[in-house]
Amino acid sequence: MLILKENHPIGIFDSGIGGLTVARALVDALPNESIIYFGDTAHLPYGDKSVQAIQGYAKKITDFLLTQEVKLILIACNSASAAAYEMLGDYIGSRALLVNVIDPVSKFLSENYAGQRVGLIGTKLTVESGVYNEKLSKFKSQIDLRALATPLLVHIIEEGYSEHKLIDVALTEYLSNSSIQDIEALVLGCTHYQVIKDKITDFYQNRVDVIDAAKIVASKVGAILMAEGILATAPSQRRFYVSDYTDNFAHMTKIFFGQEVEVQALDIF
Ligand code: DGL
Repeated sequence: MLILKENHPIGIFDSGIGGLTVARALVDALPNESIIYFGDTAHLPYGDKSVQAIQGYAKKITDFLLTQEVKLILIACNSASAAAYEMLGDYIGSRALLVNVIDPVSKFLSENYAGQRVGLIGTKLTVESGVYNEKLSKFKSQIDLRALATPLLVHIIEEGYSEHKLIDVALTEYLSNSSIQDIEALVLGCTHYQVIKDKITDFYQNRVDVIDAAKIVASKVGAILMAEGILATAPSQRRFYVSDYTDNFAHMTKIFFGQEVEVQALDIF
């Protein structure tokens, strides 16, 4: 039987700190919700790994989050959403609700860009999986999706160079690719990219809508919790864990979460 207590936390995970951008949108939209964040920094990047490897990591993280009695697990990573969402749904069963970052964005695109050309940038795994096209086809909105893998961006961002000219060089190279020209919108198909959203908007001189998952997904989580009658009512708590701690982590949380938070190393593998 599904027993989801309203004041139980929401579990959020990503390969690293990119998912903190989604966590930020979530706590902004739903300030009463408690969150437990797990960044699998020991295995980053997920985008270059095999589906089997990511499924293995995702299962272990899920086991940990379930021990914390989470009411909902949010996969705040496109690569893990592409590789492990179905598997995790079967694995979790009725023990918690499960949300990924791809379904809500696909629905949003179908409602707003039907019949138009839309670009997508993401990790190799996300792009090669074809998951966005698969999800979009269910809405029959005839979106001409042009996807491009942009694997260097995660490395540059995780290394703390999101304001450095390195990111400008990589972005110019990637966004000039002939496969993603003449688009109405560009989907940031990796949760890390939100921290460079302004740079991408500038690149297009505001002529292309730049779409990131954070707010769309946060509002989807709110709608699900409301429909289930389990929106939190008590003051919230937030805990942040990573599988491999490095010193610049606290500083990076400021960029990704908008404030420095205490991060603890946790070995769950
Ligand atoms: N933030 C992750 C995503 O949304 C990917 C980063 C990685 O490759 O680990 O796909």
